Amino acid sequence: MTEKSILITGAASGIGAAIASACGNAGYRVGLLDLDTDSLEKIASTIGNAVVLRADVTIEEDVSNAIDLFGTPDTVVNNAGIVRFGPLIEQSVDDFTLTVKVNLIGSYIVAREAAIRMKAQGISGHIINLSSINSVTPGPGAGAYPATKAGIKQLTRQLAIELGNAHIRVNCIAPGFIDAGMSAPIYADPAVRAKRSAAVPMGRLGTGDDIAQAVLYLDSDAGAYVNGHELVVDGGVVHSLLGQLPRD
Ligand code: NAI
Repeated sequence: MTEKSILITGAASGIGAAIASACGNAGYRVGLLDLDTDSLEKIASTIGNAVVLRADVTIEEDVSNAIDLFGTPDTVVNNAGIVRFGPLIEQSVDDFTLTVKVNLIGSYIVAREAAIRMKAQGISGHIINLSSINSVTPGPGAGAYPATKAGIKQLTRQLAIELGNAHIRVNCIAPGFIDAGMSAPIYADPAVRAKRSAAVPMGRLGTGDDIAQAVLYLDSDAGAYVNGHELVVDGGVVHSLLGQLPRD
């Protein structure tokens, strides 16, 4: 059991809620940050040591107030994210901008506010950002999302080289086809579910807990020398292209 604290953004739903639950079970003091406080309250009631923090990750003041209320965490998980589906030429600039704002700029604001405090207080902290397999490969109809996720990967690396000498690690996790959160409605269709599952070399969709276990690994002593890394947690699907092509 750890005695560390962890602040998780976007904790009201899907993957964030799964990370929160696993971290609560592992003994962390958990900060649950989201816009949706009703859902956060319900999740907090299932975790022993949790604090509900209402904040918009795109607003600096919200984020700094939330971190000060919780106390500077040992670990931050930048999980809040959105997607606006549709081909880029049909997407509005407003939708594109909002996706960049929440996913990329929001991750930057949270990382920045946390790292400033970790550094000032001599905390050997850790920042874990959620990218996606869309940081590796674009997806049909995924709008600005893949660009933001590729941006998060490079933000991770940049922060890692800037913060390493302050003993703050920065990593990211790239989930694949996860049957939770924003993707759950897609997999509710049995035909889509079967096709997507079959496309994964391991033959199944991922779960929120698969991602939560990656967070626990990266944040454990076993992950202590991992820095600036993108950990792809996808059952092998990003490497499956050639296996799907016809062969003589
Ligand atoms: P979700 O939609 O279930 O949860 C996202 C949470 O972020 C929601 O609770 C929402 O209220 C919160 N949020 C949105 N904008 C916010 C803001 N401005 N300030 C604070 N909170 C805000 O999504 P899901 O699926 O759990 O995704 C979590 C992360 O994992 C995202 O970064 C997503 O891009 C990433 N991911 C998800 C995959 C999936 O298949 N579900 C696959 C790859 C990556």
